Amino acid sequence: MTNRVVVGAQWGDEGKAKITDLLAEKADLVIRYQGGCNAGHTVVANNKTFKFHLIPSGILYKGKICFIGAGTVILPEAFESEIKGLIAEGVDVSGLKINPLASITMPYHTEVDGYSENNATKGKIGTTKKGIGPTYTDKMARIGLKIQDLYSPEALNEKLDIILPLKNKTLKEVYGLEPYSKECILSLCEKYAEIFKPYVCFDWQTVLEDAKRDNKAVLFEGAQGVMLDIDYGTYPFVTSSNPIGGGAATGSGYGPKMIDEVIGVAKAYVTRVGEGPFVTELKDETGNKIREIGHEFGVTTGRPRRCGWFDAVTMKYAVLVGGLTSIALTKIDVFDSFDEIKVCTAYKDTRDGKIYKNYPTDVFIHKYLEPVYETHKGWKQDITGITVYDKLPENAKKYLERLEELLETPISIVSVGPDREQTIFRKDI
Ligand code: IMP
Repeated sequence: MTNRVVVGAQWGDEGKAKITDLLAEKADLVIRYQGGCNAGHTVVANNKTFKFHLIPSGILYKGKICFIGAGTVILPEAFESEIKGLIAEGVDVSGLKINPLASITMPYHTEVDGYSENNATKGKIGTTKKGIGPTYTDKMARIGLKIQDLYSPEALNEKLDIILPLKNKTLKEVYGLEPYSKECILSLCEKYAEIFKPYVCFDWQTVLEDAKRDNKAVLFEGAQGVMLDIDYGTYPFVTSSNPIGGGAATGSGYGPKMIDEVIGVAKAYVTRVGEGPFVTELKDETGNKIREIGHEFGVTTGRPRRCGWFDAVTMKYAVLVGGLTSIALTKIDVFDSFDEIKVCTAYKDTRDGKIYKNYPTDVFIHKYLEPVYETHKGWKQDITGITVYDKLPENAKKYLERLEELLETPISIVSVGPDREQTIFRKDI
């Protein structure tokens, strides 16, 4: 059985959910390994549209085990409303399991995230305000709460005695926010314990060991994208976790040797929400056209996404640091009516003409960079019904094959529309 990681290869919103959904059909176990409800994954199945934030979309298939892994952060209220929504749609959620080592987003995390974003005069990140950064900050500072703590009076009691004095001092003195009493947090934790109870899997080691021993197929589900990775992305305009393929080996409970393939999902163009550099961004009619045809508005926040041409410079970087073994290219049909399609192959520094073929990691110089483009002829044809690679128009194939050449990586999947059927597999997956 092949174990695969699905990674966003750009700035998130690449259409990972559809690819994850397709691959989940062939997996026995799906594990979401990082992030939280900052993600928004839309899956169209059986003529219904499902919006996932934290729960692996593999839950739509009966009989799959779907883990929310230890590397994730969970906002209890968001989890509760997501699960209720699925149950209301008749989805069987009995396969859902939460690793008790996952971190909890507390109300003070969302408050601090909101405060920082609303009050930033400089250095605004444009976060989803779901408390992601503050939750990971506390996890790394070793003052976070984990799901398992909710069921351990000792852990809660001892941890809160350390956490709360520190937290309240910061809330009051740094942010001017209200402090929390221990009673208040304890009663919240009681409520959270009830919410998670049907899903927490204290026996996760056995489940993972059994699956490994029985050679079950594992799908590791990433959120966000390589360019939002805390270590390799456009720091500080990033999320606070590791969406890269390597993140699967820390956030899932399995090590790197369990991974056979890493599929990087990328759009045929680029989008970004929130602040931060974006060299190929189009602030013109072409950008608007891509946004409208591609319906580029955020699932989690509804924000219009910034749009631009495909950037082979960041993508080549994503192949390297994301550990990508192949690419799933989505939304190529958005270009069906385009006369020309551009691809950025290098950056040029407008100050001295220096050409960058490799991604310059100092994002503070990106404002001086302009894209060097090559132009491809459009195919001017509706390709949304094509499911066989050879039936694609010549210009579409040329475009895809040029991307493979630039990225030195095969494109294994091409998506030509939102439905499961609108997919071209270039190899037997
Ligand atoms: P945070 O993850 O909410 O802290 O936001 C940090 C940055 O990551 C912001 O620019 C967000 O817009 C971006 N971001 C977080 N989650 C997603 C996602 O699922 N898709 C696209 N961008 C995201």
